[in-house]
Amino acid sequence: MLNLSKIVTRPVIAALALVTVSAVAVHAEDAKPAADPKLANSLNANDKTAEQDPKLLATDAAVKVEDGKYMDADGHPTFHVTQDGKMLDWYSYSGYRRYHAECHVCHGPDGMGSTYAPALKDSLKHLSYEEFIGILVGGKQDVNAAEQKVMPAFGDNKNVMCYSDDLYVYLKARAAGAIGRIRPSEHEDKPDAAKKAEKECMGF
Ligand code: HEC
Repeated sequence: MLNLSKIVTRPVIAALALVTVSAVAVHAEDAKPAADPKLANSLNANDKTAEQDPKLLATDAAVKVEDGKYMDADGHPTFHVTQDGKMLDWYSYSGYRRYHAECHVCHGPDGMGSTYAPALKDSLKHLSYEEFIGILVGGKQDVNAAEQKVMPAFGDNKNVMCYSDDLYVYLKARAAGAIGRIRPSEHEDKPDAAKKAEKECMGF
């Protein structure tokens, strides 16, 4: 005789199928940002005076732009050259003009150097942003040179200090070979941020 009590009915546990609907849709472009074509440099490959340095061109490449000011991956200001080397960002263009007003008498036109002062197109290959600003503020003196060579301190000179980033990005562009010994013909519009900063710094 069959003892019904010995029949063990195993409960069947139905697995709950948990359908997980992801709340955040993952877009392919979020996962890996494509290089923004607006930030890419377009250089003049035929300008032999540019001495293009592929390594520096890569490390100095802009990764973002804020109101006409380009920044590299380290968060330092950098240049932006377009239209086959004809068009400069505002700050590089401004730096070109400031350089030829304040620095070229000693450092030579286009950062080429002179018998008195070093070629800044070479110095900016290794000087960091902080070192550059530090030298501009405090000057530099080669005490061992037979002939006393002095880089004046520009810390009190607004015509230099209000445009220190401009000078930096222009000389960076020369060091990387993004521009050669050119007189820039075209430039991006002067950004509102540059007008505001100039007004605050220069006091006009
Ligand atoms: C009166 C001449 C003179 C003027 C003007 C001048 N410099 Fe200099 N600068 C020098 C000399 C000389 C040195 C080298 C000093 C040394 O070797 O210690 C130098 C060095 C430098 C260095 C360091 C270079 C290196 O390889 O270490 C930087 C950066 C620099 N100058 C930037 C500028 C900028 C930017 C301006 C314009 C705002 C400027 N200088 C204007 C004379 C000048």
